[in-house]
Amino acid sequence: MKLKLHQITKHFGDHVVLDNVSLSFEKVNTLVFIGPSGGGKSTLLRVIAGLEYPEAGEVEIDGEKVAFTEDGLLKHRRTIGVVFQAFNLFPHLTALQNITLPLEKVHGVPPAEARDTAQQILKRLQLDKHSQKKPAELSGGQRQRVAIARAISIKPRLLLLDEPTSALDPEMTAEVLDVIEELRAEGLDFILVTHEMGFARLVADQVAVIADGRIVEAGTVDQVFKNPVSQQSRDFLAKVLKY
Ligand SMILES: Nc1ncnc2c1ncn2[C@@H]1O[C@H](COP(=O)(O)OP(=O)(O)OP(=O)(O)O)[C@@H](O)[C@H]1O
Ligand SMILES: [Mg+2]
Repeated sequence: MKLKLHQITKHFGDHVVLDNVSLSFEKVNTLVFIGPSGGGKSTLLRVIAGLEYPEAGEVEIDGEKVAFTEDGLLKHRRTIGVVFQAFNLFPHLTALQNITLPLEKVHGVPPAEARDTAQQILKRLQLDKHSQKKPAELSGGQRQRVAIARAISIKPRLLLLDEPTSALDPEMTAEVLDVIEELRAEGLDFILVTHEMGFARLVADQVAVIADGRIVEAGTVDQVFKNPVSQQSRDFLAKVLKY
């Protein structure tokens, strides 16, 4: 995708959470945001998803500006898959229903077709045996895969993931990362926030380090991990790469 974030500013009360954030790529397939806790990564992802209004600035994807109006955002959100922790699965619905319900109600897909799509995707993510289980009956990794299945069921042009592997043990993390790696290889575009530096290095073609509401560093994996230029990203990387 072609991506342009232009002078995005967002406050919560008098706290500046995103401070004039600009970032532009002619072509990027997997963009990864890293940086210290509280820096603004999730907020920026939510602005890109059209879930949060910035006070100023523009988001442009493939040459199309996101209109931060009610109608504009509805249209935008339909084209983007999101897996955020705040977007938990519906607890009273089965894995299958968690996928078919939004397809039917939000995207107007006929029930039989929604069911076919959901079954195919569950199978592909090796969840077919679990399609009738409710979230509480699934493991953390399975739940996260259902959330990914739901996000890709709408055939998004872009998938946004906020810490898809937090709260997972190493084996479940590997399961989820495998799925992401596979979708990436198929050409789906991603913007993701992760604390897994190994994964960031593996999948990212561009990395942005966000601290104190600003992009303090952006570039390829090699540039950012091997030759960070800003002191803030050096400090951050020194800390997280120590262990
Ligand atoms: N709805 C909100 N109301 C008020 N403040 C908020 C809100 N959401 C986020 N913030 C504040 O904005 C700042 C950035 O938060 P954000 O969640 O974007 O950080 P983050 O980089 O994702 O951090 P983490 O790595 O811990 O997830 C934080 O100081 C946070 O307290
Ligand atoms: Mg966050």
